[in-house]
Parts: sequence; structure tokens; C-alpha cells
Amino acid sequence: MIKDEVLKIIKSSPDYVSGQKICELLNVSRTAVWKAINTLKEEGYKIESSTNKGYKLNYGFDILNSIEIIEKLKEYEIDLELIYKDSIDSTNSLAKRSAADLKKDALFVAGEQTSGRGRRSRAWNSPKDTGIWMSLLLHPTIETHKASMLTLLVALAIERVMQGLGLNTGIKWPNDIVINKKKLCGILTEMSADMDGIKYIVCGIGINVNNKDFGAELKNLATSMYLETHKEYSRKDIIAKIIKEFYEIYSEFLLQGDLSFVIEEYNKFLLGNGEYIKVIDLKNSYEARQLGINEKGELVVEKEDKTKLELISGEISIRGLYTYE
Ligand code: BTN
Repeated sequence: MIKDEVLKIIKSSPDYVSGQKICELLNVSRTAVWKAINTLKEEGYKIESSTNKGYKLNYGFDILNSIEIIEKLKEYEIDLELIYKDSIDSTNSLAKRSAADLKKDALFVAGEQTSGRGRRSRAWNSPKDTGIWMSLLLHPTIETHKASMLTLLVALAIERVMQGLGLNTGIKWPNDIVINKKKLCGILTEMSADMDGIKYIVCGIGINVNNKDFGAELKNLATSMYLETHKEYSRKDIIAKIIKEFYEIYSEFLLQGDLSFVIEEYNKFLLGNGEYIKVIDLKNSYEARQLGINEKGELVVEKEDKTKLELISGEISIRGLYTYE
């Protein structure tokens, strides 16, 4: 695309580049360059135009597109195929549709999702250019019953990044990142498997980053990094940081085969440890004290009669600690 080539040229130049020079370098007309510059401005790039000098880029802080993300991934030495869409129904759905053609891991990122999906068939609010809406397509050679452990690994990677940025977040087992009793991030892990085992896993991550408001329905349940800190964040930077952390934990997990190596760290970030929670399973609900996760990623709780139970994600939900769910 001419626009991407024009962007590369003005990005790599600290000073103005003349329209004529861009035309020569790309072998295109002045009109094509002018159109490309206008599209880039519409995308949010701050480009100064001067009749005599040409064009100069004043860096856009939180612009998300394939060039920007690929550049960031390279900076973090991440070698992963990237599929970026300005708008898509759901990055998880796109990853699943693309899985047949992609035998390697890939990262799907969107500027907005028109049908973002959450757990329990809920919708996931994914407005344009506010949050991180992304999905990782993975091909782990692990037994099918271990797939749910990936949600915990992703949560830990995100938690590390949030802590690194100074946010006082915690993990609500198994798939939420919470701050001040409101949800900041959700994870949706989906799997395709047959008799031979796992074909692929898609880990979808939704993080409210620079959202300024949530509307009446969500405002007591959800929050964003911006609303908590009054600072704007660069989404591509957070994306690269999370992927880097994730692959570090994930490669160790593939070697070790369970979560023993991260139990201590995970439990440190786990909200509600030692507290009584309400457990709701398919048949009934009861109160129990939360003790933390085990090496299988199950949540260990102790009932009043001191019997211990290991809860499997997907089969239960827990309540009592947060304002939502
Ligand atoms: C939840 O908390 O219920 C999980 C929310 C997961 C949302 C993310 S956003 C990117 C990916 N695509 C989707 O449609 N969902 C996940």
C-alpha cells in the first residue's frame, strides 16, 4: 500500500521530506502521495505539511496499525505473524476462521470489534481505538485437559505487565484482571480438538486501556487503565510487553507440563486468598475459604467442615469479592 510506504519514509526522516522526493522514491504521482498523507492524518498521525518543505511526522502516541505493531514486536525481539484489522467482528472468531491456513502461532489485533465476545456468551464492549482487543493463536502439544491452564498463564503475563506499569491490579481466578473491584481485562480461551488431541487454542484478551467512559450499564463493573491513573497508554507497547511475558511463561510451561513453577507468583496476585467466597456450580452454591491455585490451575477451597475441594474453571463461578458477576 502506498500509504504504508509513505509512512515508512516520513517516519525514518527526522526532518521534512519533500513531496517530490516521496514521489521519486515510490515512483508514484503527487496526487497519490497527497491522498496517502490525508489517509494517514485520518488514522491519527500528526503530519505537518509545509508548501516549501514537504511533510514531517509529529509522532502519534497511541496509533495502532500493522506497521506500528510489527515495529514494536521487533523491538521486543518477538517473531510472530501479525494480522491487524481496523475493524472486525471478533479477533477470536477471526483467529478461528484463519486457523486452518495457519500452522504457526499468530497474533490477531483489532482497532475495534463489532461483535466482541466474552465468557458465558456475553458481549464484550470493544469500542474503536480505546482498548486492546487481541487473540493469540497457539498450537501447543499438550493434553486436552491442560488447555484451561493457558488462561492462567495469560492472566499472569498481563498481571506482570500491569504491575510493571505501576497499576495495583489483581487476578480474579480464572480469567479476569481486576482493579479497585472493577474489571479491567477479560480473557476468553477457546479450543479446537479431536480424538488426536488439540488442533489449536485461541486466547482472546480484552483490556480497557484508554477508555474514557463506560455508559450507565457498565460503569460500576468495568474500568480502564486511563480511568484508574488519569494517564494515556500506548497500546502497542502494552501488546508487545504482554506477548513477551507470555512467551517466557508459556515456553517454561511447555517444558514442565504444569503450573508448579508459577504457583507462588500467581497466588501472590490472586485476589481473595484466605477469604470466604461463594462458589456456584451446576447443582448448588456454597461458601468456602479460598486457598489458592494448585499445579493444575484449579482453585483450591476449604469448606466449613474442613474438606478441601479443587474447582475446575468453566464449571463454576465465584462471587462475593467484587461488584460484578
Ligand atoms: C470475559 O471476561 O468474558 C472475556 C472477554 C474476552 C474479550 C476478548 S477481546 C479480544 C477477543 N475477541 C473476542 O471476541 N473476545 C476476546
